[in-house]
Amino acid sequence: MCTHGKGARKHAAHDVGRCAGGHIEVGGRAAKEKIAHAATGKIGLMAGGAQSLHNRKRGFELWSGGKHLSLHCRAVPRLWHGAARDRYTEDVTKRGLILGIETSCDETAAAIVERGAHTLSSVVASQIATHARYGGVVPELASREHLRAIVPVVRATLEQAQISLDDLDAVAVTSGPGLAGALLVGITYAKALAFANRLPLIAVNHLEGHIHAVLLQEREGRLPSNDPATQEPRLALDDRDDADSEREPALALVVSGGHTHLYLAQPAHGVWRYQLIGRTLDDAAGEAYDKVAKLLGLGYPGGPWIDALARFGDPLAVPFSFAQVKTKAHLAGAAPRTKAARTAPIAQLDPRFLFSFSGIKTAVLRYVELHGLRAEAEARMAKLFAQKDGRAMTLKLPQTASDALELCPQATLDLIASFQHAVVGDLLKKTFAAAEALGATRILVTGGVAANRELRARFSGEAERRGLHIAYPALALSTDNAAMIAAAAWPRLVAGEFAPDELSADPALALT
Ligand code: KG4
Ligand code: ZN
Repeated sequence: MCTHGKGARKHAAHDVGRCAGGHIEVGGRAAKEKIAHAATGKIGLMAGGAQSLHNRKRGFELWSGGKHLSLHCRAVPRLWHGAARDRYTEDVTKRGLILGIETSCDETAAAIVERGAHTLSSVVASQIATHARYGGVVPELASREHLRAIVPVVRATLEQAQISLDDLDAVAVTSGPGLAGALLVGITYAKALAFANRLPLIAVNHLEGHIHAVLLQEREGRLPSNDPATQEPRLALDDRDDADSEREPALALVVSGGHTHLYLAQPAHGVWRYQLIGRTLDDAAGEAYDKVAKLLGLGYPGGPWIDALARFGDPLAVPFSFAQVKTKAHLAGAAPRTKAARTAPIAQLDPRFLFSFSGIKTAVLRYVELHGLRAEAEARMAKLFAQKDGRAMTLKLPQTASDALELCPQATLDLIASFQHAVVGDLLKKTFAAAEALGATRILVTGGVAANRELRARFSGEAERRGLHIAYPALALSTDNAAMIAAAAWPRLVAGEFAPDELSADPALALT
């Protein structure tokens, strides 16, 4: 998910060039992940032939048609009565297949996951090309792109998984946090699918999805698939996904373009529950990456660019520092600036686990001004965006030292490396301090910034030194996707936690 106007989007460094070029790539990832990526610009063209889904009698209409693709919910339908409302009970005829749908920010994604443990397909339609020229996500454009992409993306994921809607056991959708209009597209479409196919609908918090991206990764390959053809006996429900590691509480760092949050995650009566431990008071870490990248004339989203370039600079060249965040001073002063910050119970949090990334962005700006780097950054931006139609992202990320030097002088590379070193150091210090304070032996790191190489290397090194278990999602599951939404929905399906008929978008939904 992201917040309004934040830069930054998805994709591990190596994917950026491919995704923004307006082409569709299917199955280009590790076979195990079965991920397909596409640009929504391209996928939108496919929407013209998309299926319509009508049910005027029940006051619900959903249709698509080329450029005028539109989505209406005429009345709140009573969707999930009768059988679909019953508790989900496993039997050999069921595969526990969940269709996940994610549209909280600027990725239209759909995936099929079996029993929260096996990804059959995962399709992500990226809007990077649409938003790149604005240096951040434009909410109105995001909603429009979701409308264009949602039908073909869902169809593509069903095709890849080689299943039909009849094979599904549930539909899961992100209900928040995120952009209201963007969320509504996914929610309305998911409601229509669930209604038409008499399936239960499960609402998933986007942040819970990110946490389950790691759990999904850990479960992949551990559990047998329920193959209806062989009807092999499967694990009993109680044993299903409760490997020893999943019985213990885990400290989860969700670090993305919209969030930098620490949660204590724990399974309780089959469903995961979350306690907020720490959070950012202002910018998210990914947002700082995106703003600094923009300031330095790099591409969008900024994270993968800074990740790629930081390797060729001196991380100790510029001594950035993070002061301890003072909760009381903060509360006495100006109100928290972001909506998310306003809604969280910051006063109840231990100030040692609070983050603040707006200061380092200003420090980088000051450094750029003082060292006369602005003209060089502007020239680089002009060069990058001089590419056809403002599509800076078609440019390949630098791979070698000479690539990096061709793009930036050494002083800028040092600045980039120092920025990243400081951000990762702050994330690391507070995460491990929280783990120690809580006695957590398991750490999960997830969200777009978890794709960062320096972050993974330093967090893994620290975990090893302290004898803690640490896990990350596969790179393709670090940034927004729908496999994580379908995986998070599985325990809720088993527990019978279905979405209410009146489910709507909650842009500031808290994770509990
Ligand atoms: O989780 P995500 O896809 O969307 C949100 O929920 O926000 O995260 C996107 C964020 C962006 O800010 C992007 O710049 C950052 O993740 N990001 C990275 C890397 N890849 C993506 N940041 C640092 N290093 C990366 N390799
Ligand atoms: Zn996200």
